[in-house]
Order: sequence, then structure tokens, then C-alpha cells
Amino acid sequence: MKRLLSILLSIAIVAGTATAQTSKEEQEAFKFADKLIKKMTLREKLGQMQQFVPNSASVVTGPDGETRDIETYIREGCVGSFLNIKDPKELNRLQKIAVEESRLGIPLIFGFDIIHGCRIIFPENLAASCSWNIEAIERSAQIAAAESAALGIHWTFSPMCDISADPRWSRVSEGAGEDPYLGAKIAAAMIRGYQGDDLSSEKTIAACVKHFAAYGAPQAGRDYHTVDMSEVMFRDRYLPPYRAAVEAGAVTAMSSFNDFMGVPASGNKWLLYDLLRKELGFTGFVVSDYNAVHEMVAHGVAADGKEAAEKAMKAYLNMDMVDGDYISYGEALVKEGRISERLIDQLCREVLAVKYRLGLFDDPFKYGREGEKATYRPENLQFARKAAAESMVLLKNDGTLPLKDVQKIALIGPFADSPLDQTGAWHGWRQASRVVTTLAGMQERFGKENVLYAKGCESHKHIKGGIEEAVATAQKADVVLLTLGLGRNYSGEARSLTDISIPQPQKELLDALLKTGRKVVILLATGRPMTIGEEVEKANAVLLTWHSGTMGGPAIADIVSGDENPSGHLTLTFPRSVGQIPIHYNAKSTGRPQDPAKPTKSYLSNYKDSPNTPLFPFGYGLSYTQFEYSDLKVLTPVVEIGGEVEISVKVKNVGKYDGTDVAQLYVRDIVAETTRPLRELKGFERFSLKAGEERVLQFKIATSELAYCHIDLSFKEEAGDFKVWVGEDSNATLEGKFTIR
Ligand code: GLC
Repeated sequence: MKRLLSILLSIAIVAGTATAQTSKEEQEAFKFADKLIKKMTLREKLGQMQQFVPNSASVVTGPDGETRDIETYIREGCVGSFLNIKDPKELNRLQKIAVEESRLGIPLIFGFDIIHGCRIIFPENLAASCSWNIEAIERSAQIAAAESAALGIHWTFSPMCDISADPRWSRVSEGAGEDPYLGAKIAAAMIRGYQGDDLSSEKTIAACVKHFAAYGAPQAGRDYHTVDMSEVMFRDRYLPPYRAAVEAGAVTAMSSFNDFMGVPASGNKWLLYDLLRKELGFTGFVVSDYNAVHEMVAHGVAADGKEAAEKAMKAYLNMDMVDGDYISYGEALVKEGRISERLIDQLCREVLAVKYRLGLFDDPFKYGREGEKATYRPENLQFARKAAAESMVLLKNDGTLPLKDVQKIALIGPFADSPLDQTGAWHGWRQASRVVTTLAGMQERFGKENVLYAKGCESHKHIKGGIEEAVATAQKADVVLLTLGLGRNYSGEARSLTDISIPQPQKELLDALLKTGRKVVILLATGRPMTIGEEVEKANAVLLTWHSGTMGGPAIADIVSGDENPSGHLTLTFPRSVGQIPIHYNAKSTGRPQDPAKPTKSYLSNYKDSPNTPLFPFGYGLSYTQFEYSDLKVLTPVVEIGGEVEISVKVKNVGKYDGTDVAQLYVRDIVAETTRPLRELKGFERFSLKAGEERVLQFKIATSELAYCHIDLSFKEEAGDFKVWVGEDSNATLEGKFTIR
């Protein structure tokens, strides 16, 4: 016992020292920045606050009214960062100009959207979140960082921490779903993965908490639309992942396109200074989203770029992405006394400090030195294959999966052999030639001669003779695997939809294949939930494969063959119809909750034309085996504030396959000061059991994790009675209760 105590003590000391080192490291960086700033002209300081893409500066007029080319801007010290440069040689060339030909030789920082991988592309983030495998998500970020740094990238605009419950909004593909508790765990894991514990290492890169804030709640699910919500709702449901990312040490953040409580985020001092810095303790720098400073003119809160720059600087935004308003108007704003140079010093210093912490002043060329030999490592490809399999969610299965006693497989559909769709939106430095498609993965696993392929149709349009060819192919096979869904052009930014059902040509292809009498397994390739009730009804099995990345093909083959047992669980609700949106598991009771026994009973909160329940709930996911949850014990039925609630539950694999499940723990605060969700995720554990094996899982919830935002905006826990459930989705029925006093 004594030895254990001394080990624990030493861990605590090391951890404590590590934290002390980090703050010591920051102080050293700020000291360096302060010394450098004293040598800088106002224009050079503004240059550090300006980011361009290669082709943008040449159209941006300088204060003297004429345009400049990139190299001139760099030599004049008028740009501190570039994004979207995809060529290591070009990165090196521009860095050489900055370091060797500008007056002070301040290195550039290069950013890129490494959202779910650099060369190796992992499943899109929403897919990855469905693995509930926090360690794997951290590892994916670590691999992405190492590949990026080896190719010359210093900084990624990731993780996206935006909670969203609206699949009309195409950017749900980039996030971690609808739940703040899980979203916070994932955000922190990605920061750790990208930044590691040594930001100056050539294997780590700067991360970016985005999009600050609440970008995932646009009205009508339309990208860039107005976001307006109570501060109570914001603090309870949207803030936790941003907070977790800051607490994990994120060194940059990005202001979002949307207005928030009436003020565009890039000019919102309450968001960027009072909340992000004073309350959350963020000490890095904030970059705007693309053109978002200048877009304050379109928002109608700035008359022109100059006023936009003034508002952004006064909101404490450090860096202007692309529109050039900072470098164009910064000097005039200071000359006119509208902005103090002291503020410019502060905004510039935080940018310099991050560059210092990345080691760019020590060795501006260390990133990019290792090059391609650091990419596509076999162990990382193998890991990506496993991560893709774990992200997939089995939505329906009548026993057709895993495939057995089949000789010939007809693999049909627009996404079966599509490297670009398989790697989704924001596909980093993907190389299509390195993507192992579903067709390739299936042929590798089952033999080329046993996998017959036909495209059948394009994503949104017919192919002449396509259906006929697909039917003929199906008739030569024992079973049909049919890829349906939405391709890469329906994931990511600016691709909102009012209709998230399967496109008509694909529906017709499915119906034609069903007429062959073969069993049909749908492989759903999508970056968002879809209204697929009809297709689920008709198919024998539905496997949600998402946009599964470089190794998605072998991963799909692993699952349909039974080599891998699916273990994914939804992190974003699948609605029955668009009319239900926003629909999420952590909804509130209302004063007139629906009567489940009489779902359309009048004067209760329900629809006359639809159940309230979704097609598939948050947390849902099937396996080839079955897991039984029993014997839920609340070991601490009464807990003092500041204590821990302890709960145990027995789980058993009662099927015939070994498998992995995700035990989820939900609570309800029965009576509180504000209306609380009917259920809130407050714990989960992935566990694997062999067929027949059983285990007891233990959960501990600190009472502080049950804190919520009160009417006076204080975030605190309080005494009260709680219900608790544990199970394999948000409809878990195994119930217990406890009291905090
Ligand atoms: C885009 C996106 C943001 C991205 C940035 C740079 O418009 O909103 O997520 O990081 O611009 O590409």
C-alpha cells in the first residue's frame, strides 16, 4: 500500500511539474515575444496578425492603394501566416523568403484543414465519434499531426467542437454529434493528439478550437445562418467541448462565421475576451474564419473593412484570415486613435508566442524536413482500418450479416469504387491512388472472381443502362451489397439540405435489385444522418459505413465477413423526417409530455402525423452478438455535494460472437432550478466480451459533473434526487436512483 501511495504521489508531482513547465514555457514564449515586439514597426506587428492564402494577397490593396504580390508582402513583413498551401516545396520557399529576406526574419506559420487525417485519411469526425473510442480518436489526431508536420504544416484548424442536433447542416460531419459530455471528451483527446506534450517537436502541430462559438446551431440548419439562444442553453449544451479543448491546452482558436446573441463572433468581445480568455483561461491566439472579419459588413455591423477591422481588434481577435482588412487599415486605425498600439502589441504578442512554442524561431525549417517517408506507415494504415471498422454502425440485421455460405457477392452502387467519396470532405492531403475502396477491399477479402461490381447509378442521377447492368450482376450473385447515401459533396461546409432522404435514382436502383429476390445489404455512405426509414424497411441489413477514409474498403470487408464485429453507436440522432428536426435524446420534458400509451393524445407535446421518437436514437448500434445488462447497483444511494456517485452494472455477452459494446450511463435531475434534459450522458465504457463471458462495470460520477447553468448563470451542482440508467443506447431501461444532499 505504501509503495502504491508513493507511486501515486510521484505521478501527481510529475503531473504538477508538467503543468508548471507548461506555464513556465508560456512565460518564456511571451518574454521572447515582448523583446521582439520592441524592434517591430507597427506595420510588421500588423503583418503578424494577417493570414493569406497564396492567391489572395495579390488582390488585396495595401494602404497605399496598390496590390502587392505574395513575395513582396513577405519581404515587407506584412503577412505572418498562410493557409491552404499543399506543396512542401512552396512552404519551404516562402519560409526562406520570410526568414532570410524580411527585415526581422520572423518565420511564417502555415495552417491547413487537417480535419480527419493528412495523407492517411481517417473516417470523418462524426463517424469517428461513433466508435466512442477516445484513445483511438487521440491516436488518429497524433498520426495526422506527425504526417502534417513531416510535410511542413505547423497548425491545423481542428478540432471542430460545435455541438449540433441538425443533420440539415452539412457540417455535422466534422463534429462529434449532439452530446456535450462526449463532445468534450473527444475535443480534449484531439487537442492532446495534435499537440502532444511538446509543441516544439517536429511530430506535433498547433491545434485550433473551432468554430467559436455555437456555429452548430444555425437557424433552419442553413450554414452561416443566425445563431440565437439563451446563455443558459449555450453554457449547458454548447460550451462544454470548447471549454474542454481550452483546458486541454489548445494554443489557437477560430471565431465562427455566425452572429451570436446579435453580434458576429469575430467582433464579439464577450465571446472572444470575456468568455474565452477571462473565464476559460485561453492564452493562445484567435484567428477569424475565412473572410469573417470583412463579413461583418454583410452582417450589417460594420460600414466597411476599416470599421470591421476596428471591431475585430477591439473584440480581441488576433489574426485576420484572408480578407486583408488588418494589414490594409491597421495603421490608419492607430493613426486616427481608434485603436491603440498597445492593443496591437498584445494581439501580435500572442501570435509570436505560439510561433516560439512551435520552435519556429529556433529552426524554421524543421517541419517538412522528414517528408513523405513519415507518411503511410504500415502500422498507421492498419490502425486506420481498425478505426474505420469501429466507426461503423450496424443499424439493421435480419441475420444476413455476417455473410456466410455465399460464393458470389454483387457489390453495387455509386460509392463502391469511389476514393473521393470514401474520404469525404476536408480530406487533408489525401491521394486518391492510396485509397483502398470498398470494391478493392471486398475483392481482397473474398477473391476478385467472387465480387461482381456494377455502379448502377450516379449519386444523384441515372446512368444509361445502369440499373439493367446492376440487376444482371445481382442475378449472378448470392447476395447484394448496395452502397447508397450522399457523397463527399454533401459533407462539410456550405452543403445544407432541406431533404436528407436517399436520392431518387438510388431509390430506384434499390427497388430494382429487391425484385431479383436476392438479399440486399445497404452500405450507407454518408456524412450525416438521413431519413432512410423506407430503405431500412426494405433491406435485409443496413450498415452505416459513413465516409470511412483511406482504409474504409478493407474495414467494410472485415465487418461484412465477420472478421470484425460491428461496435459503433450513434452520436447523432437519425430523425424519421426533417419535420422532427432538431431532435436529440437530451430533450426536456415540457409541461405536457407525450403519453407513450396515447402518442397522439390532444393537448400534449406530440405530432398528429408522426411519432416523437426518432428512426434511430442517440447511442444506438447493433452487434452480431447480444449483450445483456442487469443488476444495476447504486452503491452510494446518498452522496454529499463534492462526493462521487458509484454505480455498478453486470454485462454479459449472451450471443455466439465475441464482441464489443458501449455501456452508456444517463442521469436525470428530477427537480432543478431550470428545466433539465430527460436524460444526460454522464459516463460510458467500451468493453469487449467473448461469447458467454460476463463482467461487472463500475462507474463513478463526481457530483461536480452534475452541475448545470442556473438562472443567475452560475454553473453549479446542487442537492436533489436523480434517476440513473445504464444500457446500450439512450433508451436504456435498467434504472436506479440516488440523492445528492
Ligand atoms: C472555412 C471553414 C473553416 C476552415 C477555414 C479555413 O471557411 O469554415 O472551418 O478551417 O475556412 O479553411
